[in-house]
Parts: sequence; C-alpha cells; structure tokens
Amino acid sequence: MAEPLWGGRFSEPPDPEMLRLTRSIDVDIRLLPHDLEATKAHARVLADAGLLTAGDVDAIDRACDEIASEWSAGTLTPAALDEDVHTLVERELTDRLGDTGARVHAGRSRNDLVAQDLRLWCAEAAGELSAAVAALVEVLADRAEEHAATVMPGYTHLQRAQPVTLGFHLAAHASALVRDHARLRRARDEARTCVLGAGALAGTTLPLDAAVAARALGLPDLFLNAMDAVSDRDFACDLVYASTLCGVHLSRLAEDVVVFSSAEFGFFRLPDAWSTGSSIMPQKRNPDVAELVRGRAAGGIGDLVALLSMLKGLPLAYDRDLQEDKEAVFTAVDRLRGCLAAMTGLMGSIGVDAQAMATAAGGSGSWATDAAEELVLQGTPFRHAHARVGAAVASGTPAPFDPAESVRSRRSHGGTSPERVLAQVEALRAAVR
Ligand code: ARG
Repeated sequence: MAEPLWGGRFSEPPDPEMLRLTRSIDVDIRLLPHDLEATKAHARVLADAGLLTAGDVDAIDRACDEIASEWSAGTLTPAALDEDVHTLVERELTDRLGDTGARVHAGRSRNDLVAQDLRLWCAEAAGELSAAVAALVEVLADRAEEHAATVMPGYTHLQRAQPVTLGFHLAAHASALVRDHARLRRARDEARTCVLGAGALAGTTLPLDAAVAARALGLPDLFLNAMDAVSDRDFACDLVYASTLCGVHLSRLAEDVVVFSSAEFGFFRLPDAWSTGSSIMPQKRNPDVAELVRGRAAGGIGDLVALLSMLKGLPLAYDRDLQEDKEAVFTAVDRLRGCLAAMTGLMGSIGVDAQAMATAAGGSGSWATDAAEELVLQGTPFRHAHARVGAAVASGTPAPFDPAESVRSRRSHGGTSPERVLAQVEALRAAVR
C-alpha cells in the first residue's frame, strides 16, 4: 500500500506532520491480539452472510495467528503508513492473502472495531487487576489474622481515640479493597458487550448477523444501537474509575505505612527488600515504595479526569478525540498493576513492633469511652458519664483497665474483639475467592 487505506478520494499525499499527529500505532499496538480476535470473529460474520468462504475464514485465522506470533517474536514491523493497529492488521492480511484480506473490512469500520478491541482489552485488564487486588486482600487477611489480638491505638484526626488491634486496622484496609475487587469485576462485565456490526455509526446494508460475532468472541451482550455502540466509552470510564479509586485506597494504606514506620510511631519496620536508602545519610531506611504508591494515585485521578473531559463535549457518533481514550486507560491500568504488586510485597513482609503499639495504645486516656460506657451499664445517663470520665482524664486518673481488655470487650457488630476480627478476615477472604 503506497497510500493510506482511505486514500482513494485524495489526489495529494498526506503531510508528514498530519501523519505524525494522527498516528496512534505506538499506543494502540497493545490492542493487536484483540484486533486479531475481532477480525477472526468478523470473518465468521462475513462467512455466515455468504461473503467469505469457509476456506477464506481458515486462511484469515492462519494469517492472524502468524501475525500474532511474528509480533511476539519481534519480527513484525509497522509500515510507515500503518496509522493504527487496525490499519496494520488489514494491510498485513491483504499482503498475505490478497483479495481475501481485502474483503475483511466489509460491513465493518475502525469505529466499531476500535470500540470492540478496547472492550476486549478492558475486560482482560479488569480481570487481571481484580486478581491482583484479591492477592493483596489475601495478604492483608493473613497479616490481620496473625495480629487479631495485637493491640494498637486507633485514631481519629490522627489523635489517639480508642485502642484497636492491628488485625482490625488491616481488615479495614482490606474491606476497601474488597469493594475495589467487586468494582473491577463489574467493570469487566460492563466491557463484555459485542459492538462489532455497528459499522461506522449506522449499521450496514450487508446481511450481517452481529450475534455471530458475539458468539465468536464469547461475549454475553450485544449492542442495541449502532450509534451508541461506536460512541460509548462508559466501560473505559468504569475501569479507569475502579482503578483510580483502588489507587486512592492503596494511597491511604501507603500513608499509614509511611506514618507508622517513622521513628515517632515506630509501629512498623520496613523490610530491606522494600526499603530505600539515602545517597547522603547512611542511617536512612525510607518508605519510598509507599510514598510512590501514594504519589501515583494522583496520576490515576488525572487519567479519569482526562477521559471524562475528553468525552463530555463529543457530538455523536465517533470523533477522533476518542483515540485519546487508550492512553488514559492503559496508563491507569499499568500504574495500578505496579502499585498492587508493590503493596502486596510490602505488606506481606512488613515488620511489626507489638510492644511499641501496645505502649502507645495505653496512653492518652484512650480508655475513656469504654469507661463512660461502663457507667452507662450501671445506669448513668451517657452525657453525665462523659462529663465524669472527662474530668477523671483531666485530673490524671490512671487507666482502670488495659487496652487489650478494652479491645476484647468491643464485641459489637464489626467491632475489635479478636473473634470479631477473625470473622471479618474470613468474610474478606470469602469475598475475593
Ligand atoms: N485509531 C482510531 C482510534 O483509536 C481508530 C478509529 C479511526 N476512525 C476514523 N474514522 N478515523 O480511535
């Protein structure tokens, strides 16, 4: 092909700067396996309509497999005029199969194709991310079980509030991740719709049965309206949102790691493999991993805003602005994948100083709420109990019970007692299995 695949109506060659601006292959080449899968599915649709023979479908399948393995082997190089992955695949098929390759794009547009490719990519990525979240939940559940009775201060406003256990605290972080897991599973389901058959925006005059493509792709849902099918990127927003919120949860966990591993707290000891040193201060052991996870959550928020902002003004149906969706989706997913792996490694091996936590849990009158509740049980109105205990704290009355007792006696639903924490741990594990 000496000219772009759409070159028929032009008499002048494309300006090189125009090609540079519009070219997306460096980014969307990641869709290659999915473009090949969608192409195989579309070949079946064409064969079902009598527009390709069974032999053509076999030849297309074989050529697609060849293209895939050449790409993995690094022997496939995009041509100068391959502006995107779809162009590359169509050109390769035509180079290899002649007219059979040139028949493949009938009743199909890059508009429905790119939407389909990205849906397949998102479904796969959402599945992988949810598995990675599940792995982190398992690690946190293990650590929570190990520390179901390890007392530490619980904080509000980062001021000591009531004693809790490390198991309880870790189960709280894992609870947020269980919601992320469910959100990612839903994002996966949202992506699993077949949109091949929508064409450019309005379907086709050819006798194509979109259900054949849905079946070939193993997708449970089929688009309703062709115009919506090529314009819709809700599934991408769902995935980026689910990834971003998960990144925010990791950031909050990371913040606890940063704070609790400082000498001021001394609750956590950073493991060698997940710590960094200083180029000048020989004594340093820094929580860079947690800090980067915290910092990278910002990028996810940026990706989500970029995607939503890109979509908000678009007239129906396809607009080239949509090409920019992939960068946001790919970076959001890649970033979260790295952060999940790091937090899984870090939390699995982080050291715990139970003594430092127990000492801190005993201070600052954190027994006061429990003491007031004891008075309530004896018939004192709560407000009066609050005032009496407040005065006792102010006058330096020593703690009437130890933090471990306090933690054990909070047996309310979702509470801190070790039996409650162990039940939470089991529920967390069950939710991701
Ligand atoms: N590279 C394009 C994208 O990612 C493919 C669709 C191009 N369609 C078009 N009509 N120009 O969105």
